Amino acid sequence: MVSVDQVLSTLSTVIDPDLKKDIVSMGMIKDIEINGGDLKFTLELTTPACPFNDEIEQDVRNAIAKIKEVSKFDLKVTAKVMEGRSLSMDEMLPTVKNIIGVASGKGGVGKTTVSVNLALALAQTGAKVGLLDADIYGPSVPLMLGMGKSSMEVDNNKLQPAESHGLKVVSFGFFAEQAHQAAIYRGPIISGILKQFLVDTNWSDLDYLIVDLPPGTGDIPLTLAQTIPITGIVVVTTPQEVASNIAVKAFGMFQKLNIPIMGVIENMSYFICPNCTTKHYVFGKEGAKRMSEKHELAFLGEIPLNPGIMEGSDTGRPVLVTDPNSPLSHAFMVVAKNVAARCSVLASQLSEEMKAEVATQK
Ligand SMILES: Nc1ncnc2c1ncn2[C@@H]1O[C@H](COP(=O)(O)OP(=O)(O)OP(=O)(O)O)[C@@H](O)[C@H]1O
Ligand SMILES: [Mg+2]
Repeated sequence: MVSVDQVLSTLSTVIDPDLKKDIVSMGMIKDIEINGGDLKFTLELTTPACPFNDEIEQDVRNAIAKIKEVSKFDLKVTAKVMEGRSLSMDEMLPTVKNIIGVASGKGGVGKTTVSVNLALALAQTGAKVGLLDADIYGPSVPLMLGMGKSSMEVDNNKLQPAESHGLKVVSFGFFAEQAHQAAIYRGPIISGILKQFLVDTNWSDLDYLIVDLPPGTGDIPLTLAQTIPITGIVVVTTPQEVASNIAVKAFGMFQKLNIPIMGVIENMSYFICPNCTTKHYVFGKEGAKRMSEKHELAFLGEIPLNPGIMEGSDTGRPVLVTDPNSPLSHAFMVVAKNVAARCSVLASQLSEEMKAEVATQK
């Protein structure tokens, strides 16, 4: 007869490569059922988009194979996204588990393109995802998703987010006239409007809310990052921007405010030649990766320069929807899985900090 202790002590040798903790103390093993030599349990991963899901599952199977008393093994794999929420978020958005801000040093580097495709990729793994277009001056999310204006309805004094390809979407761009007026708004008004978009929206349960921030490190992105209880920020950059140090300024600013940086995404990294399928690093190779290493930040992946992205953006047909199996979609999926993994790490750190805080209050 196998014992629960035996199973747990064997499984405690399996380490989550991201969280660097064993899967038993992380509470990932659930519903153990033992019947003689028959063993059954559930492995609950921290996100459906974990890049190490297959590896962890295999490690679990290998560990169990070492228990000679187990004659039959039935494993169920599920995922429950961890909450990367601070207390302020608890009050503001009780049903949203993680808020991820997408920022950049300057405009036009592909923040909105990355936000949209990141959200779609996470949704394709099975996560519940929302997208908030916080770029009041130039809201382009509705255009990229092919959504019309005024798609949002008000119900019980709450905004109902529009839906597109399984995402819950809120954008200032849905209100054409206000969007036009936005150019005259200043920082505090804008942060007030966005807070309202965030809090007075009926998001329902979300694993990830992606927030497309306005470009740069001026007052507005900073006010927003401080207004919205963000789990962390991902910084989008391009090889040229890395070369000119603008990206360093961008994350330096957020770091000074103690806003966690989840990592760096390099957009327009290389061009795949349509004839020979070779990757050409036109603007230099792995600049953002080296920069991330130097500043001890995670490098979340690179997205190629591809004319199809621009075409898809202009016609409201994102590549993850039109061609989910293409190398381009694959590149976005790699980035999305890395972002989800970093989110789990931050959520786990936050949960440790909150436990420690509660313990000191006792
Ligand atoms: N990898 C890419 N390959 C080709 N074109 C791209 C790529 N990424 C973005 N683009 C194009 O570059 C332009 C700018 O992208 P996007 O609007 O996403 O940038 P942004 O950082 O959000 O800009 P803004 O600062 O104005 O909000 C768009 O036309 C978009 O289609
Ligand atoms: Mg944008």
